[in-house]
Amino acid sequence: MSAPWFVDAVFYEVPVYAFFDADGDGIGDFAGLTDKLDYLEWLGVTCIWLLPFYESPQRDGGYDVSDFKSVLPRYGTLDDVQQFLNEAHRRGLRVIADMIVNHTSDQHPWFQEARQPGSPMRSRYVWSDTPDRYRDARVIFTDTQDSNWSWDPVADAYYWHRFFDHQPDLNFDNPGVRDEIEDVIRFWLTLGFDGLRLDAVPYLYERDGTNGENLPETHAYLKRLRSMVDTEFNDRLLLAEANQWPEDVVEYFGDSDEFHMAYHFPLMPRLFLALAQGDAGIVVDVLDRTPEIPDGCRWGIFLRNHDELTLEMVSEVERECMWQHYAPEHSMRKNVGIRRRLAPLLGGDRRRIELLDVLLLSLPGSPFLYYGDEIGMGDEHLLDDRDGVRTPMQWEDSPNAGFSTAEPGDLYLPIVSSQEYSPAVVNVASQGDDADSLLHWTRRMLSIRADLPVMGAGGFLTIPAADPAVLCFERIAADTVVLVVANFLDAPVRCALDVDDPPTMVLAATPGASIDGSVITLDPYGWAWFSGSRP
Ligand code: GLC
Repeated sequence: MSAPWFVDAVFYEVPVYAFFDADGDGIGDFAGLTDKLDYLEWLGVTCIWLLPFYESPQRDGGYDVSDFKSVLPRYGTLDDVQQFLNEAHRRGLRVIADMIVNHTSDQHPWFQEARQPGSPMRSRYVWSDTPDRYRDARVIFTDTQDSNWSWDPVADAYYWHRFFDHQPDLNFDNPGVRDEIEDVIRFWLTLGFDGLRLDAVPYLYERDGTNGENLPETHAYLKRLRSMVDTEFNDRLLLAEANQWPEDVVEYFGDSDEFHMAYHFPLMPRLFLALAQGDAGIVVDVLDRTPEIPDGCRWGIFLRNHDELTLEMVSEVERECMWQHYAPEHSMRKNVGIRRRLAPLLGGDRRRIELLDVLLLSLPGSPFLYYGDEIGMGDEHLLDDRDGVRTPMQWEDSPNAGFSTAEPGDLYLPIVSSQEYSPAVVNVASQGDDADSLLHWTRRMLSIRADLPVMGAGGFLTIPAADPAVLCFERIAADTVVLVVANFLDAPVRCALDVDDPPTMVLAATPGASIDGSVITLDPYGWAWFSGSRP
């Protein structure tokens, strides 16, 4: 049986508002996305992940939905979505969408009705006369919320919310909620999406005496959704956002009967930590700690996304180290994390960007690229919330970066202004003209990877290296093996690998990389992919 499509996929995360503004109103739209499909096809990604594009007051980047089966008019119409899907599919690109199942906006008509005394909608949300219930559930947005309960004077009760206080949690004990959410998923898959990323899934149910995360009731409902998808659709993907330890996340794969994919949250900060400390040990530890996952399931690996670089899955000491190293200014910190993009985090150092990108493309899991990181876009960390990493895509060297014809002051967010990362320095057009650019390098790496099925379905084995700065592992298929080596130190290394008969054919590498017997030599921040056949 051939592997499911998402095993070999390279995902590209993009918010509709940020990519290209076709109608000149200052915000990206579906027509703009459709215009830029040629670019994504050229780049070599294979699946586009769209952030929420539904009707919403936009107080949480669209994760505050006020109508699940609609399109925000500024982004276009349902027909525009359909056309975008058709054009993507015509190019062999797949598309998944974000879906928010845990909560709605407080502007959702369900909530507005639920607030009214005696409303039959009341039990679609979670209410209490006191803010004392479910005290063991942590607050997630620690810098803006001090409780998961907020008082509603109209309802004359407290309502439950795991995120912002304008995002009341749905009550999954209510059968109507369970049916509605299932129907929303059916609606978008019927339109032609290849899958859905289900947002914030650990928190669907609340139970006294628990922390309200990963509860059996939650898993049971998610399995029901999967069963519906398997019964009614072919070849679709359900992807879990569950910012949890690997041993808890694996539960979301179930017995191959829950999610097809889930992000590997704990791996991500450890790649940055290893780089800060020049020691790969912490990456090896988390990989060793990662349980096997069922057949047909897959990790999603990422470096950056539209949120802060979350530090929930590291110790306090490690968090402090990350903050000192990567967020020296307080304004760069957000919640339990860091609101910066990949290139500025790594000091704009091509060697370090390539090192992490290479690992993103070779660790076991499907890689998720964040829009703009392929050109090393910068951020504006002084903007509100996480807006600093959601600024317009930089297509060319012009005041609006080729993103929009609107007046600069009318853009949904300003273009990155710092000297180092402004469109004059960082843009698609000039990197497209330069064969040595990060953009061309990324494209080349994606193309090499596309010819290596072992990077998708292949097995994984860490290989001990004599120098702690070196991360080494193999990706293994029946007849091929790819050896991946990466030096986390800003100094050359030469060290022995504990491997018999290592492969020697260079697929891609930094200039000084070589292998002699089982001894590897690497440049500062050097890396290499070697391939060989296995009898
Ligand atoms: C998810 C999203 C994040 C959002 C949160 C609450 O974690 O990634 O952007 O703020 O859910 O909806």
